[in-house]
Amino acid sequence: GTVINREGKEKVADEIAAKVKDGDVLGVGSGSTVYMALLAIAKKIKEQKLHIKAIPTSIEISMFCAKLGIPLTTLYEDKPDWLFDGADEVDPNRNLIKGRGGAMFKEKLLISSSPVNYIIVDDSKLVDKLGTNFPIPIEVFPAALLHVENELRKLGPESIALRPAKGKDGSVITENGNLILDARFHDIGNDLELKIKSITGVIDSGLFINYDVKILVA
Ligand code: A5P
Repeated sequence: GTVINREGKEKVADEIAAKVKDGDVLGVGSGSTVYMALLAIAKKIKEQKLHIKAIPTSIEISMFCAKLGIPLTTLYEDKPDWLFDGADEVDPNRNLIKGRGGAMFKEKLLISSSPVNYIIVDDSKLVDKLGTNFPIPIEVFPAALLHVENELRKLGPESIALRPAKGKDGSVITENGNLILDARFHDIGNDLELKIKSITGVIDSGLFINYDVKILVA
């Protein structure tokens, strides 16, 4: 159960920390596995007096880095040497669904800018087929909501839902000021990421097909 899981996550967290070298610019994704890796990295930085910089993918991760004393930088000042991030689903071809936390646009931007990418997950994330447990999150420019929904329907989803905010009225507003549609698909073909992206008003989606990623399983 949870105990084994936690121990597993600590192990991958240590594996990630072991890869950190002095002077590295690290891309930092989102989620609880990323948190644990950051804790291990912060410990190593202190012990070995390393100088590293982190490019965060969310305000939450920025604040966590600040709390841990890890200096921050941006994609327009620095290029990441490598990144680590979590995922919601991983298929046998290393395709991913991400974005349960709503940060998939910056996560995809970072992964597109980084030469080496580690995805850290526990084995509950491994699926034979993408879409088994999670919908595809799609970030949408607010004024384009109905247009995007109509176009998405043509791609044959099982369902499309506007993500509601938790603990307050209304919908989730992303850090970029946009809305999120969660679209469930039975069959996720290799061209679905591009088809979704080509709809005007879609900022990006949490579908990651054919990215160059190494998977570390807890
Ligand atoms: C955030 O938008 C997601 O892509 C996360 O990477 C994902 O939800 C992983 O989170 P956990 O490590 O907490 O499972």
